[in-house]
Amino acid sequence: MEKIIIKGEKRLSGKITVSSAKNAVLPVIVAALLVEGKCRIHEVPLLADVETICDVLKELGVQTTFLPNHELEVDATMIVRCEAMDEFVRKMRASVLVMGPLLARIGRAKISMPGGCAIGARPIDLHLKGFEAMGVRISMDRGYIIAEAPQLHGAKVYLDYPSVGATENIIMAAALADGATVIENAAEEPEIVDLANFINNMGGRIRGAGTKVVKIEGVKSLAGGSYQVIPDRIEAGSYLAAAAITKGDLVLENVITDHLKPVIAKLKQMGCFLEDTEAGLHIAVDEPLKAVDLKTMPYPGFPTDMQAQFMALLTQAGGTSVVTETVFENRFMHAEELRRMGADIRINGLTAIVEGPNKLTGALVKASDLRAGAALIIAALGAEGETEIINTHFIDRGYDQLVEKLRSIGAHIKRSHDAG
Ligand code: EPZ
Repeated sequence: MEKIIIKGEKRLSGKITVSSAKNAVLPVIVAALLVEGKCRIHEVPLLADVETICDVLKELGVQTTFLPNHELEVDATMIVRCEAMDEFVRKMRASVLVMGPLLARIGRAKISMPGGCAIGARPIDLHLKGFEAMGVRISMDRGYIIAEAPQLHGAKVYLDYPSVGATENIIMAAALADGATVIENAAEEPEIVDLANFINNMGGRIRGAGTKVVKIEGVKSLAGGSYQVIPDRIEAGSYLAAAAITKGDLVLENVITDHLKPVIAKLKQMGCFLEDTEAGLHIAVDEPLKAVDLKTMPYPGFPTDMQAQFMALLTQAGGTSVVTETVFENRFMHAEELRRMGADIRINGLTAIVEGPNKLTGALVKASDLRAGAALIIAALGAEGETEIINTHFIDRGYDQLVEKLRSIGAHIKRSHDAG
């Protein structure tokens, strides 16, 4: 079993480069299905989820080729199958994003019903509601969702919740639909803007991405081209929290600070020094950390994908911090593991009460999901002694060269393969 082993209390300092955003590059790779030709995506991060989405596209008969210097070519000239198989959907929920482009290109999609995952039930009812409004017939067959649309037409869709995935799936279906589509109460995440920019670069006509109302004029077809996605705001935020817990001094290159406003605001409230410099986003921490309350919200609120990392950091803040998770119903799995390291955290429904500062000591801990794994890395960096983290495959889904990047700024970190 593979482990990541960290010897804590090493002050992180230096400079690292943030990779392209996982949650931008996945929908953009899928949106390449809309193009009857070749697309090239630059600076693709080395992530397990990128490999998985390429496997999903290959199952559809689409060519994906990794070229030198992190470039990925997707050739969707031919789509010969329309099924996202169970093994892939179970492995990575974002596989359901192929529905939109498949309906747009060939009028049919067969997707294994996505089950829940560690952080929640994660239904796709809002995706399906949008498709039905556009003329798609939805049926179920032996655990698969069958979606069929002789001709997709534009529609007005109101999302009961600003779902990122539903917004992305409907945008992709609408890009080639007959007529105009309006999505109201759309998700406003930067990754939505990136997806719209990609599709518009290929000849699409999408306006309002990044606001609550997105308008899509369907076009006949899209042409191939190349694109580079935005930097990963969650990777950046994770390294900021890592620097903070070690009272470090770190510069992050390749960051759009605008995308990190709620995270930067919270770190400043905790007593961290942050400034935007020519070299990148600079964080320096030499004061004791102060407790803060945080509540996760859809963008531009505090990101749910940073909640676990901040819970780890707040164990070292002086006072009582109240963490409220409003986006997912079961996203406190990391609390149990942090308690094994000495954290004082009490869970009450969707709220966690964190008392600090509490000295953390190294332990054998288990990652339950991607961001919980990041939280354990951060806790281990601030803990006394050695921590062993198992289930590291979760971490490798979303962090490009994490061990190498942390080692380059002073962390004592390594991977090990135990026979057991
Ligand atoms: C995206 O997931 C991200 N994943 C998640 O990041 C992120 O946490 C989430 O958005 C919220 O920001 C990718 O982009 C690949 P949602 P998604 O649809 O699209 C409910 C990470 O760590 N909902 O906005 O699945 C849902 O149950 C991952 O990188 C419905 O009820 O998120 C959840 O409670 C984790 N019906 C809430 O909305 C639906 O049809 C937010 O889900 C769809 C969603």
